[in-house]
Amino acid sequence: MRNKHVIDLEDLSAKELIDIIQLSNEIQNHPKDYADACKGKILATLFYEPSTRTQMSFKTAMLRLGGSVIGFDNPQNSSVSKGESLKDTITVVGGYTDIIAIRHPLEGTAKAASMYSAAPVINAGDGGHLHPTQTLTDIVTLYNEKGSLENMTIGLCGDLKNGRTVHSLIKTMRHFKNNRFVLISTPELGVPQYIKDVMNSSDCKYVEVPSLIEAMPMLDVLYMTRIQRERFASEEEYEREKGVFVLDKEKLLSAKKDLKILHPLPRVDEITVEVDYDERAKYFIQTVYGMYARMALIKTMLDQDNRSVPPLINDTHNVKCSNPRCITAGESYLPKLFRSVGGDMLVCKYCDSRTLI
Ligand code: NCD
Repeated sequence: MRNKHVIDLEDLSAKELIDIIQLSNEIQNHPKDYADACKGKILATLFYEPSTRTQMSFKTAMLRLGGSVIGFDNPQNSSVSKGESLKDTITVVGGYTDIIAIRHPLEGTAKAASMYSAAPVINAGDGGHLHPTQTLTDIVTLYNEKGSLENMTIGLCGDLKNGRTVHSLIKTMRHFKNNRFVLISTPELGVPQYIKDVMNSSDCKYVEVPSLIEAMPMLDVLYMTRIQRERFASEEEYEREKGVFVLDKEKLLSAKKDLKILHPLPRVDEITVEVDYDERAKYFIQTVYGMYARMALIKTMLDQDNRSVPPLINDTHNVKCSNPRCITAGESYLPKLFRSVGGDMLVCKYCDSRTLI
């Protein structure tokens, strides 16, 4: 792998992604051959935000590879509750372990952690920003259930603004030939600007539509998502958005016979339970693919023996990121890192938000 850490799936080339998908299938078909593949290695799972699938599949993945796991799923049980900085926690855990999976409510946290960790870091979800290992799960599912990662019309429905799984999936699928996105949401919950910038810069075709039923007949894949209640400023705003898009049996009447329905889970009320019994529903088998995908990723990263003490990184600009949910708002010692996109506009390298100079 060309990069030590996996913060964004852009850290992997298209070939590296295909290699991981193939290794994931190989492990699924011959699990005994990999039962000791990471023997003696330790994974840390640092979960500052709730999780069922991601945390448990990381843990199961490491245990099935013969490795061990340490970590926390509630930062209140760690020194974070005493006011310890992310830098200090990561410096210490990076010294104890061989690989770290981190989830945090602030955007850009995994990138910040990677700047202080001797061990490689995997982003297990950073606020409403990115979720690369869910995308790995999604592409292993699509590769196996559709037979290809190309030439698809992919509908993404629900909370496209705060849904980090949506952002990572779009960023990744645009690298495979001839995929087109149908973005189904209310105007308030459309994809953020940096995802539009990414699609526009790659000539990727997309349309934004307000109706699931109208989009249905053209879709090869439907990626349903939960309205991300915890990311709303107020309960009233959430109440306005919830329940707008619900996939049920009737809506599937006009869908293609070979449609694949994915969902990162957890589901709240956006897919009715009867849909679980439709053969096009793939969201539970998706979780199984996810465990093998994480096994393949962990093994690939550990095979590289890429421990290194991180160098000091200096500010690129003397400007504060304007995003209040960026990790730089919570951890003030972090260097201010931006890339220029022309004019007076800078893009934060942690959270991808735009800031005016
Ligand atoms: C997703 C997440 O945490 O972003 N869940 C997951 O990791 N499988 C989606 C969600 O919480 O809605």
